[in-house]
Amino acid sequence: MGSGNGLPVHIAFIMDGNGRWAEAKRLPRAMGHRAGAQTVRRVTAFARRRGIPFLTLYAFSTENWSRPRGEVDALMELLSAFLDDELPTLLENDIRLRMLGDPAAIPSATRERLALVQEKTAGLKGMTLSLAVNYGGRDEIVRAARRAAGGLAAAGRSPESLDREFFESFLDTAGMPDPDLVIRTAGEKRLSNFLVWQSAYAELYFTPRTWPDFSDADFEAALDEYEKRIRKFGS
Ligand code: IPE
Ligand code: IPE
Ligand code: MG
Repeated sequence: MGSGNGLPVHIAFIMDGNGRWAEAKRLPRAMGHRAGAQTVRRVTAFARRRGIPFLTLYAFSTENWSRPRGEVDALMELLSAFLDDELPTLLENDIRLRMLGDPAAIPSATRERLALVQEKTAGLKGMTLSLAVNYGGRDEIVRAARRAAGGLAAAGRSPESLDREFFESFLDTAGMPDPDLVIRTAGEKRLSNFLVWQSAYAELYFTPRTWPDFSDADFEAALDEYEKRIRKFGS
């Protein structure tokens, strides 16, 4: 209390372990993703209740297209259903939805729902929930670099005039603070191409709990640990 970090402004989750959760129960992997969607609802409600301004969830990476077609289809359908079901809850709880990633490759039914929910919640200010879909940190940086180059050329500016602030304005996260805390469930200790630019000074938290089993108490434990971490930012 007092000298700690307080609450993170921006928490980002690498939601991992749906497959292992299902396999341990001898269920199809899709059932794990379905159980994971319930955790998304629970974690979003928890963050909103706690007054976290920015919550970001890694839902589908640029590398996840290499999974079997049936699993990719199931994930996209689940995401569509989630968006349909959650719109009223987002509106009711003053939550803005934002998408991170390249929409181009996302199947049109899912892409259209993402666009619709973003549009309907655009003015909401209680919390920003960002869903990273067809998101990869390296892909985001390359897309931003292309657009930044175009922006410089259009303004007749030299490459040397490119600075961090201008570049960041082309990232998918433009205008958002960097994540303070990145939480990965299910035990792997890596970023898997998530927010590689923005996580430069994030506190990283790894828990063995799978995403479907990640509870409010687990979330509380992560916040407690974050509160105690010493952040130095190089100073
Ligand atoms: C996370 O769970 C969901 C996505 C990556 C879409 P996984 O499907 O990666 O689960 P594991 O890692 O196989 O257990
Ligand atoms: C990271 O999980 C991607 C998402 C959570 C969407 P993965 O399961 O795809 O990552 P790896 O393959 O273990 O690195
Ligand atoms: Mg995984």
